[in-house]
Amino acid sequence: MTSADTAMDDGTIAVIGAGYVGLVTAAWLAETGRHVRVVEEAPERLDQLRRGIAPIHESGLQELLTAVMDDGRLSVTDDIADAVRGAGIVFIAVGTPPLPDGGADLRQVRAALGQLKKHVGATTVVVIKSTVPPGTTQALIESSRRDRLKAPVLTCPEFLREGSALHDCRHPSRVVIGGDDESAQARVAALFEELNTVVMQTDATSAEMIKYGSNAFLALKISFINEMARLCELIGGNIDVVADGLGTDPRIGRAFLNAGLGFGGSCFPKDVAALDETAGLHGHYFWLLKAATEVNLQQRRRFVVKVQEAVGGSLSGKRMAVLGLAFKAGTDDLRQAPSIDVIRQLVDFGAHVAAYDAVAGPKAAEIIPNVTICADAYECVRGADAVLVVTEWPEFITLDWRRIAGLVRRRIIVDGRNLLDEHVLADLGFTYVPVGRRPGKKSLRRRNASALLPSPAVG
Ligand code: NAD
Ligand code: UGA
Repeated sequence: MTSADTAMDDGTIAVIGAGYVGLVTAAWLAETGRHVRVVEEAPERLDQLRRGIAPIHESGLQELLTAVMDDGRLSVTDDIADAVRGAGIVFIAVGTPPLPDGGADLRQVRAALGQLKKHVGATTVVVIKSTVPPGTTQALIESSRRDRLKAPVLTCPEFLREGSALHDCRHPSRVVIGGDDESAQARVAALFEELNTVVMQTDATSAEMIKYGSNAFLALKISFINEMARLCELIGGNIDVVADGLGTDPRIGRAFLNAGLGFGGSCFPKDVAALDETAGLHGHYFWLLKAATEVNLQQRRRFVVKVQEAVGGSLSGKRMAVLGLAFKAGTDDLRQAPSIDVIRQLVDFGAHVAAYDAVAGPKAAEIIPNVTICADAYECVRGADAVLVVTEWPEFITLDWRRIAGLVRRRIIVDGRNLLDEHVLADLGFTYVPVGRRPGKKSLRRRNASALLPSPAVG
């Protein structure tokens, strides 16, 4: 008997790809009582998983993984046939990295589908969780039918954020299930029944549009606030106060209005580029996406120019202490991190760079070889001509800045995330260069947005 003939059970689920999406989704599904088999092909990740170690840094993941592996609800394999045998639902959560032209590289998705083909029958549902450009799933549905894949293929794009991935799985803002097989969609929807959330069932291309539209819109918001920050630097005003003011309008919202070094990570840059490329393939020139990307890149260049100006014009031979390497706080992910771009530019201008990131530091050594990766922040800042805040790790706020004042060569801070308190630092003799307000000018303290809202009694 082949696996295709075995009775299928939606309490048994296979997940292909043990990355930020696959592993977190698998652990959450196991937590909800399902039996989950995770397939991973990368030897290092597989080896760590087999030893019960989470290969990625994600809050709460290690504890949950230990719990669900110990009670036998989550297992790991590199054998796809084993994993999908008897599984009612198979999630594909493999990577879709960017191609040089900006398009999404779909080879991992196609390969996973190809490997599945001979092991699944008509009663298994195959769900693409990877982010694939609008039109892809419909094309895969059609080609799978031609290739005699009996299982229905759906898309269920993922909206989790790194750093809060498990929380986002447990409390999703919505679940979107796209495809053309209503009964298969209903089976996938049943997995999310206990969550108090909106479950949308739609066609595959609309589902993909929702995924790309969400990431692109958030990226636009960030680039918009960064352009406003630039105007504040030129004209006056404090971008943090401006963002609070804009954000009090519920039609705008305060989220994703933090000005700074712009967006990085494995998603926004690649998904904006892929949507733009898809638009281009269909003859549409998507101005806004191109602008969002360009503004984002400029933001990194501008930061380096600010550093240059702060140290007196030339970076050659200067020692730079970079605090934070991950593309954002809460993760070890360095994909498309602003830090990498910034450090490369600093090195190109002749600076000596030391960097510290408690979580992403160990991974960084391979990616940025010309940099000294330090074990702690105090070692990093020793003898520095400037301290640069690149990732918004909360631990940087509570560093002993008095001690740092005694360790650096020059008391200059360029804060790419507006993280630190400029008043405290000014009292310690630092020159503090923020984003979105004029350096050297003591600006208004940041105002609390909630204080600006009308009270419920009035509203
Ligand atoms: P990732 O690179 O961390 O993980 C993908 C994993 O799949 C890798 O470990 C790889 O070895 C494995 N893999 C690839 N092909 C395989 C195969 N045939 N068999 C077994 N294992 C295989 O990627 P990720 O960050 O988890 O992203 C996965 C997808 O989800 C991407 O399309 C991404 O755009 C999307 N997404 C990511 C996030 C995020 O926060 N990272 C959020 C939403 C959506
Ligand atoms: C993002 C989305 O928020 C998720 O919903 C989506 O599922 C995911 O991409 C994806 O498709 O993979 P993530 O990349 O983990 O999640 O991180 P975000 O919190 O969205 O931040 C992205 C980048 O924008 C970071 O570099 C962050 O520093 C930057 N950012 C964010 C700002 O510069 N300003 C802000 O106000 C918010």
